[in-house]
Amino acid sequence: MKTRILMVCLGNICRSPLAEGILKSKLNTAEFHVDSAGTSAIHEGELPDKRSIDVAHVNKIDITDQRSRPFLKSDLEEFDYIYVMDQSNYDNVCQLIEKESHRQKVIMIMDEVYADASADVPDPYYDSINGFKNVYEMLDEACEKIASKLTK
Ligand code: 4NP
Repeated sequence: MKTRILMVCLGNICRSPLAEGILKSKLNTAEFHVDSAGTSAIHEGELPDKRSIDVAHVNKIDITDQRSRPFLKSDLEEFDYIYVMDQSNYDNVCQLIEKESHRQKVIMIMDEVYADASADVPDPYYDSINGFKNVYEMLDEACEKIASKLTK
């Protein structure tokens, strides 16, 4: 059975598609399934934001196969690790928890770098391309930690 990891943000067009692409690039896809979703369905079916596509491309990662999809209650059952980008994503996902055992699956992604600091990956949607570059660097650092933890 593959270990299943879900990356979650609000729109599933800026941060979590980058997180999905970066983590996939660091893991063997025969052993790991990586997906992403948004707590809002507002961008359902859309490609990632062009700025995320561009920042990924510069780093030799192609995320153009991804399409936005909403986070589902069933994801809490289906996935082993659910990484959220910020506190509001955390609260929105936790609101859907029906089995207490699922709570431990939900992790603030930057806690993998700065344990228990509850640091947010900032929403870059209304920011410039520099905001997306900053998000990329943060997620690359977090995904490096996740990949080494999961392949130990
Ligand atoms: P994301 O960014 O949660 O990183 O995908 C956003 C994308 C769209 C919106 C907000 C954040 N929006 O308000 O449409």
